[in-house]
Amino acid sequence: MRNRRAALAAVASAASLALALTACGQNSEGGGEEKKGGADGATIGVAMPTKSSERWISDGANVVKELKSKGYKTKLVYGEDDPDQQVSQIENMITQGVDALIVAAIDNKSLNNVLQQAKDADIPVISYDRLILGTENVDYYASFDNEKVGELQGSYIVDKLGLEDGKKGPFSIELFAGSNDDNNTKYFFQGAMNVLKPHIDKGELVVRSKQTALNQVTTLRWDGGTAQKRMDDLLTSSYRSAKVDAVLSPYDGISIGILSALKSDGYGTGAKPMPVVTGQDAELASVKSIIAGDQTQTVYKDLRKLAKVASNMVDAALNDKKPEVNDTKSYDNGVKVVPAYLLQPVSVDKDNYKQALVDDGYYTENDLK
Ligand code: GAL
Repeated sequence: MRNRRAALAAVASAASLALALTACGQNSEGGGEEKKGGADGATIGVAMPTKSSERWISDGANVVKELKSKGYKTKLVYGEDDPDQQVSQIENMITQGVDALIVAAIDNKSLNNVLQQAKDADIPVISYDRLILGTENVDYYASFDNEKVGELQGSYIVDKLGLEDGKKGPFSIELFAGSNDDNNTKYFFQGAMNVLKPHIDKGELVVRSKQTALNQVTTLRWDGGTAQKRMDDLLTSSYRSAKVDAVLSPYDGISIGILSALKSDGYGTGAKPMPVVTGQDAELASVKSIIAGDQTQTVYKDLRKLAKVASNMVDAALNDKKPEVNDTKSYDNGVKVVPAYLLQPVSVDKDNYKQALVDDGYYTENDLK
């Protein structure tokens, strides 16, 4: 049996199953009452990457809420985008005796040693949103269809420029990708390029900087300031005598940096309209920016659902049940294909934000004022 609770139950059942159930009940937070989902007072460690982005703050809160509703106790930590700090936070939680871990990695390859410690302590590990690479000690993956996210961004650009309606351009575009230590980055970029590359090959889209390879366009730690600097440089080097029509941005925080660079260069006025700028996460500031006509699009990923999926996985794993998965092929971490549950992302712009975000209860009209 894979986890400590299951092992304990096995030992106990050898003596008396009835006694084991009573013992479990007495351990639960409620003092003798059997919890829904069989939490039995177990504590779940939740390691999130950073508080610098609103989405991860929501993720932490949502996961804690879900776990508490199932009767679990929680420890929530944020690694402030420092991989070493995240490793020691996880180490501490293992030492403190957490029963399971939910981890959104900062650097997908830096967790191998600490996850071996988790394995040795029989602690199941759920990879949250970002896949952890290079270790067999990750049990399940809860995320979105990440390639689809990129496809939604790429198709939005193609549609908005009218390339599907017979316009031939050429339109100029620049490409941005996420952090090179985040496994999602290549999926987002691949998804977008599946759609954009045929138009680049036909000359309908032109990347004037010629920076089209993933390793030329990544943005370490998804940092908006880094993206702003790169956009400044691109505008100086490649757009003195031309204007940029579209910018592929993988994430709202990066889009904010790109938009600042564009505004400083005079975009957003009559003569120089804002290019099409994509994004991801439907962060509040970016949805407001879309309403104001600066950013053009974002990709909404309902974080409430992600928290539910991850919490259900933990609950199943701790109760020796098989967590629900819907993908057992796509996410190979280099050592094994990690069984995953992938949620569906939704493209959002000025035309559908009310229906997508407000009707869905993600934001209120008031939030967006
Ligand atoms: C990715 C995540 C995106 C975005 C980005 C920056 O891993 O999938 O939704 O949040 O990190 O935080």
